[in-house]
Amino acid sequence: MALDVIILAAGLGTRMKSSTIKILHEAGGRPIVDYVLDLAAALSAATPVLVIGHQREAVKAHCGTRARYAVQEEQLGTGHAVMMGAAVLTAQGHAAPDVLVLSGDVPLTREDTLWELIDEHRRSGNSATILSMRLEEPAMYGRIIRDGSGQVLRIVEARDASAEEAGIHEVNGGIYVFSTEALLEALASLSSENAQGEYYLTDVIEIFRKGGGAVGAVIARDPVETLGVNSRSDLAMVEQELQQRKIQSLMEAGVTFRNPEATLVDTTVEIGRDTVVYPFVTLEGSTNIGERCVIEPGVHLRDVTVGNGVVIKTGTVAEDSVIEAGASVGPCAHLRPGTHLGPDVKIGNFVETKKATFQSGAKASHLSYIGDAEIGSNVNIGAGTITCNYDGVRKNKTTIEDGAFIGSDTQLIAPVTIGRGAYVGAGSTITKDVPAGSLALSRVPQKIIKDWAPRQKK
Ligand code: UD1
Ligand code: MG
Repeated sequence: MALDVIILAAGLGTRMKSSTIKILHEAGGRPIVDYVLDLAAALSAATPVLVIGHQREAVKAHCGTRARYAVQEEQLGTGHAVMMGAAVLTAQGHAAPDVLVLSGDVPLTREDTLWELIDEHRRSGNSATILSMRLEEPAMYGRIIRDGSGQVLRIVEARDASAEEAGIHEVNGGIYVFSTEALLEALASLSSENAQGEYYLTDVIEIFRKGGGAVGAVIARDPVETLGVNSRSDLAMVEQELQQRKIQSLMEAGVTFRNPEATLVDTTVEIGRDTVVYPFVTLEGSTNIGERCVIEPGVHLRDVTVGNGVVIKTGTVAEDSVIEAGASVGPCAHLRPGTHLGPDVKIGNFVETKKATFQSGAKASHLSYIGDAEIGSNVNIGAGTITCNYDGVRKNKTTIEDGAFIGSDTQLIAPVTIGRGAYVGAGSTITKDVPAGSLALSRVPQKIIKDWAPRQKK
């Protein structure tokens, strides 16, 4: 059966103390509204209607075609926001029999829970079915007032509650399924006569009951599912929950975490089985790690693709790079964007790479800078080698062909090519191409001055 979805997202979120609207704040590596859009997409084939107000252009730019948009010019309350959303549904002429209302700032609801809510709504024939929760400290949430038969009579906002009502622990999660027809009728008679002078969506409940409609509530098993992000500490709680869920699902899929609490993994990251992740590792963005890898402490990867059996040692930082199977990186290596390490490549400590391709088996084991470079297979780059890629105006390319050997402390002044199997003597400054198979040396020949030291002392 068809279901429409309205997502309320017009509020700025003043308590975030931010210049960015709260639904675009990130947790688990994605803006929180993304989780709500994912839920809407999982629950309904209809494109959800996002009610926007503050920073509408930024919200639209981010959400794109994942939503239809209803603009709420002034934030006159949740009831008014739903009126704006419902207007888009009816204007397009084919509103579904039921409508699910979600909040753009409530990202942790589980799909199962929402199916339960929808099923209960359809089974009962209610005008509205509310997702509620029980809280030790009901704080500023709306209180659910039930009658003797367990039906919901009305919702009282905390600010409008009597002392007795304020003591109720079942509160409104702000997520509802409505019968569309009943909702449209009730919205038409909403007023803004309350403590905040707003059109409260919650007032439609009492309107339904007075008109003879039924209202039920499904209590969420875990109150975290209805946690709304209003402040930075709410955002941190959402982040923590997303981390826990993500790492739990990775462990279930066969990944070992030596200390799950001390590891940060974005919800967008993938990791293959039998990979071991040490503490203080941060894995972000589209990072995708293969099987049987070892990710040592303090590694930070963003948008990095890692093949099977790779070891990334302590303190390595990599971004927008590819590391193929069997490679070993670090400790303390820095792979900057555009690095591509082929199979079994070895990048050792204090090596920085940028826009550099290493073919299989190439090695740069110590203290080097390799940028704008193409390194052939089985090339050996000695300690302290630097590709001098920048002449102050342009970036220039260094090519080192298969099997070449670069002695330690070499500067390769780009553009330059070292031919296949060529050797460069340690301490050389290479300004011209080196032909395949030859030896290039550019250092000053060593001079010996005999008995020099004793003469100085006299
Ligand atoms: C609302 C409920 C309260 C419930 C709580 C759960 C009402 C009157 N109260 O209160 O019973 O316990 O959620 O979190 O509904 N929004 C708009 N336009 C507006 C006002 C709000 O789009 O004019 C959006 C906000 O951006 C937000 C959502 O609606 O995404 C909820 O609004 P908020 O102001 O946070 O409502 P609460 O006071 O938390
Ligand atoms: Mg709120």
